Amino acid sequence: MRIAFFNTKAYERPWFEQYRGHHQISFFDEPLTTFHAELASGHQAVCAFVQDNLSKPTLKALKEAGVSIVAMRCAGLDNVDLETAEQLGLTVINVPDYSPFAVAEQAVTLVLGLMRHLTEASKRVEAGNFTINGLVGTELHGKTVGVVGTGHIGRAFCQIMLGFGCRVIAYDIRPGAQLMRLGVQYVSMNELLTQSDVLALHCPLNETTKNMIDADALAAMKPTAILINTSRGKIVDTDAVLTALNQGRLAGYGADVYEQEANWFGRDWSLEGVGDDLLNRLRSHPRVLLTAHQGFLTEEALCQIARSLLNKLSFHEGRQLEGITHASMC
Ligand code: NAI
Repeated sequence: MRIAFFNTKAYERPWFEQYRGHHQISFFDEPLTTFHAELASGHQAVCAFVQDNLSKPTLKALKEAGVSIVAMRCAGLDNVDLETAEQLGLTVINVPDYSPFAVAEQAVTLVLGLMRHLTEASKRVEAGNFTINGLVGTELHGKTVGVVGTGHIGRAFCQIMLGFGCRVIAYDIRPGAQLMRLGVQYVSMNELLTQSDVLALHCPLNETTKNMIDADALAAMKPTAILINTSRGKIVDTDAVLTALNQGRLAGYGADVYEQEANWFGRDWSLEGVGDDLLNRLRSHPRVLLTAHQGFLTEEALCQIARSLLNKLSFHEGRQLEGITHASMC
């Protein structure tokens, strides 16, 4: 199959080259937008990522270019207009089940980084300041950790938190029996908000979860709680989070995502400056730990993403991916 790979990054290309088998891949640096969709001409499939634009006009342009498959190299499909894709007869595939521990461990990293003031501690040591005043942390052991969404990633996160000796409570529209057996207690969203010392979001972005953590939700939380978002920026009202932090009603915010990240993440703005006031307030806040959507960025996950996506594309042709031996598996 001829695949047009948009928004190519140096860290992922080698994995797709290694596992491409019989597929022919054209790598484009350009993000997938309506304007760039014509680059897909002559390809049966496009491969895109979270920050790409797969709105109605882009999908129409892809269809006109002769594309029949949209292959998302990510789990979430919130940036794809699925209704239009269906109307146009475009097949949309994704990789829902690659290494959930990659993102769960990123969430744990954010929790611990905030609880032990790692950013400030590291800055001091770098500056030759070896004092530790003001760096008193809190322990995770014994705390109540609340999890919204206990699918692949939320489940992995719950298991890690149980290992830390936390009481783990969760809210999901479809509670999981396996987690209950492990000791996770499902509660209402309101109980989750009021009881959690750490609240971690692992649900998808959809109409029911958009702005789920707004000013009202934040008002219900403990002022000593920290909020972790590795899911999607728009699940959280960033402005309300900053207000809660500034008013002492929230102790910390750890995020791997941002509501307008498509405009900023994945590119170097250090010379031009970041022209987004909300993002600037967020990234400079002393009690915010922000990373630029790197939860999936582990060797294991990249390997799984490439193999799984290329396998699925082969399946659509009624073939098996060639050139994969047991020894070359991740
Ligand atoms: P999943 O589909 O396995 O699990 C999602 C869970 O959320 C399901 O159990 C579902 O029932 C639950 N859910 C759906 N709507 C809900 C609601 N209104 N309230 C409570 N729970 C609800 O998804 P997975 O693989 O665990 O991924 C979760 C999210 O993580 C993805 O949708 C994506 O947004 C994000 N993600 C972030 C990455 C990163 O690099 N930062 C990488 C991969 C995924």
